[in-house]
Amino acid sequence: MMRWIPVRAEEMLREAGYEVTVSQKEGVLTWDELKAALVEKQYDAVASLLTDTIDADMIAAMPDSVKIIANYAVGFNNIDVAAAHARGIVVTNTPDVLTATVAEHTVALILTLASRIAEGDRFVREGKFVGWDPLLLLGTDLKGKTLGILGAGRIGSEVGRMLHNGFGMQVVYSDVKPNDALQNVCNATYCLTPEEVLERADVVSVHVPLLPTTHHLINAERFSKMKKNALLVNTSRGPVVDELALVVALKEGTIRGAALDVFEFEPKVTPELLTLPNVVVTPHLASATEETRAKMAEMVATNIIEVLEGRTPPNAVA
Ligand code: DGY
Repeated sequence: MMRWIPVRAEEMLREAGYEVTVSQKEGVLTWDELKAALVEKQYDAVASLLTDTIDADMIAAMPDSVKIIANYAVGFNNIDVAAAHARGIVVTNTPDVLTATVAEHTVALILTLASRIAEGDRFVREGKFVGWDPLLLLGTDLKGKTLGILGAGRIGSEVGRMLHNGFGMQVVYSDVKPNDALQNVCNATYCLTPEEVLERADVVSVHVPLLPTTHHLINAERFSKMKKNALLVNTSRGPVVDELALVVALKEGTIRGAALDVFEFEPKVTPELLTLPNVVVTPHLASATEETRAKMAEMVATNIIEVLEGRTPPNAVA
């Protein structure tokens, strides 16, 4: 394991008779450290994190004994899956268990922006609150507004369901194909292009995986399609949004505000974003609840045990 994850994973692996080595470094291993760690022993399995870059060179350096790379995340853009498969290594992820948690965090960010909660919190802490003011920090309602979802997979769909059923938002979405379940559950409208979503939505929530085709999906040109009052929320992967273009869009009033849980050059954040009052940031926390992180750890252990015992793991990625 490249870092400590909730202890249940280690317990399950030891109970199943496996020896477990955990990196003792506080923090993310560099590429070279990771490579050195992987060749130290004839490991059968690698439990990786989304911060570990497991590219083709790393996979080529792994001992022949490695049968599975079990990623502690639903996203697996950190792994060259084709290179792993070419060496006969199974790659697994942790879907489903984090869907509601990430959706809840996304909704929390949307509410924080719409009701200007972070700005209000700073205002009070800075001693600026001198009395109720009819025009102080006016936010925007969600009821009756349109939510635009880019990427209507598990998490995007759950965000749509929560905001439609809980807050009375209309839902429009784009994806590679229509999602009938989403349409049934919240009467969502399928748009053929992201542009159509951006033109119609008051709140845009991004839920696509990071792929060459989704890198800078939201760029200067697409910001220009958005409504002036639009709020943008990204809890997927940072490079999906062009951060410099976002700074320009926020400063020029092309959109009203943005909330980010992920960053283009994570863990670095484009410094200008942090100077803007209409930006809310969290440090890649969307799946970070005790319950969900524990379930993700169990899934990592289950996937490893299934592969090492010659069975098909529940969460192999294609
Ligand atoms: C994921 O699982 O991909 C999230 O980004 C982190 O838990």
